[in-house]
Amino acid sequence: MMNDACIIYLRWAKIIKLFSKVRLISFVSVKLATAYQLRLCDCKSTIMIPLIDCSSIAGGAFEDVGDKNFEKVASDIGAAMTETGMCNLINHGIDMKKIAKVYEASKTFFNLPVETKSKYKKVDVRKSFNGYVGPGDELVNAKQKNSTELRESWDTWSVDGHDAKNFPNDDAPDFKLAVNAIRSELENMAKKILRCIEIYLQLDDGSLLSAHENLQDYSIESHTILRSLYYFNLDPNESIPPDAIRCGEHSDWGTITLLIQDMVGGLEVKTLDGKWLDATPVENAILLNSGQLLEYWTGGRFHAAMHRVRINNQEMGKVPRQSFVHIVNADRGTQVFPFPMTPVLMDKVEQFEKFNNQPADAYDYFQRLIEASYY
Ligand SMILES: [Fe+2]
Repeated sequence: MMNDACIIYLRWAKIIKLFSKVRLISFVSVKLATAYQLRLCDCKSTIMIPLIDCSSIAGGAFEDVGDKNFEKVASDIGAAMTETGMCNLINHGIDMKKIAKVYEASKTFFNLPVETKSKYKKVDVRKSFNGYVGPGDELVNAKQKNSTELRESWDTWSVDGHDAKNFPNDDAPDFKLAVNAIRSELENMAKKILRCIEIYLQLDDGSLLSAHENLQDYSIESHTILRSLYYFNLDPNESIPPDAIRCGEHSDWGTITLLIQDMVGGLEVKTLDGKWLDATPVENAILLNSGQLLEYWTGGRFHAAMHRVRINNQEMGKVPRQSFVHIVNADRGTQVFPFPMTPVLMDKVEQFEKFNNQPADAYDYFQRLIEASYY
């Protein structure tokens, strides 16, 4: 149930959208909205996710944006990632009409008969991460082995997902076109975010960006993925396993994730004090969050927030939920270890014991978690 504060916040987000056509007014409205969000800290059911105005870095290619413009955003992103591990990017310049086309083409694919979709299932996740994932095929919370995660997805893996033959061209002919139309924009945005993080962390050697060359060269193996997610309607007349969930509790595994979601809702985020709160969607925003490896890279300063998507009664029998995610991970061979500028925080030492005080290979770490998630 949304309380009054949440409803007022949603109305305010719509006002921002209306005003966003005029940059000056947009700037003022964003500042006011951010201030308003601060007043929602005591909201009982919705997490406060900072809104960050990206208009200073939105236009053009990454290479054409100067550091002065990145600096305008870097401190806001750094503060958000250290406090909540997430932020909503607005005025980001990503063409949302292209996202609408991805949703439409994805829906065409996901509404195909099961036997048709099954032709495109991943054959061996150790060799390729490109293809279709059916309901229950993947369990991101591998600790809950008896649960069922009720969703479908299509992964476009950076290494072989750019190859035309690896799309469902015969059954969903617009899918490849739609994904490829948005791919370069998201990669461009990801590089801009990585540069902001470098500036915030004072990484003058450019080491974070240089660890992600896969963003412009698909021959470099990594676990950077474009994922189209489809949370299909649940039939209220059919029994649902008692331990079923849409997406199990997890924090993302890689460097950063850019999540674009529709307005259906359902995403929940765990706060540092252990409460699960709704992450109410903000129309046309991109939700940015840190992954586990970025958390390790920054010595625990950037928080990889736990999140999940639950089955809620409001959603049952209504419209399906869709999202499109750019999971950004470092190049194969990248050894992730806390940057010299950001040694491990004392209160993170225990959490990082899983890394055994050793560099983690970005690819191998992600691959181990994948293999635990597929059966
Ligand atoms: Fe996630």
